[in-house]
Amino acid sequence: MDCRIRPWQTEDAENIAEVLNNKKIQNNLRDGIPFPYTAEDAKEYITAMLAADKEMTYAFAITIEDKAIGSIGVFRKDNIHIRTAEMGYYVAEPYWGMGIGTSAVKQAGKYIFEHTDIVRIFAEPFADNAASCRILEKSGFQCEGILRKNAFKNGKILDMKMYALVKEA
Ligand SMILES: CC(C)(COP(=O)(O)OP(=O)(O)OC[C@H]1O[C@@H](n2cnc3c(N)ncnc32)[C@H](O)[C@@H]1OP(=O)(O)O)[C@@H](O)C(=O)NCCC(=O)NCCS
Repeated sequence: MDCRIRPWQTEDAENIAEVLNNKKIQNNLRDGIPFPYTAEDAKEYITAMLAADKEMTYAFAITIEDKAIGSIGVFRKDNIHIRTAEMGYYVAEPYWGMGIGTSAVKQAGKYIFEHTDIVRIFAEPFADNAASCRILEKSGFQCEGILRKNAFKNGKILDMKMYALVKEA
């Protein structure tokens, strides 16, 4: 299925609230996202993304026929890590397994390397998040290692994996 990443629009809030109101998705993300997740929460997120520093935050809706069905963001780090950025994403459950996550990761990576001076994009999925690890691998990211006991999520200590895509000179 053909997907496109594009900048957020306030009108995406209702759709994205429905998508993120899903524990299977939130269980693989960082803490701090409200559950249940309302259209108001989504509006707040979209407003923050639209107002964010354009040199630091690259946030996109993942869309099918312009309907927001997911999110992908690339967030620049600071200090000596200023030329690196962390990528995070999710896709609505009904669309899993259709190649959308892989396509979105590839599109976002291409955009960042073509339009910014960022030279390293990394992602840190939980080690047991096979789908996320797989889409990173299919998008050219290399697994650089296991971050042992790197997270405390839902009452459990979890390993994470460090994946990175670097810009070739
Ligand atoms: C991770 C996520 C974005 C993947 O999106 P998607 O659109 O389903 O991804 P794709 O269809 O492009 O690819 C999924 C791949 O994972 C594989 N996969 C899925 N579940 C799997 C599992 N349990 N074990 C092994 N492989 C699995 C699929 O077979 C497919 O690989 P293939 O094309 O080689 O067959 C989606 O599952 C999601 O939103 N998960 C919740 C949030 C999340 O985990 N975000 C990432 C945080 S680091």
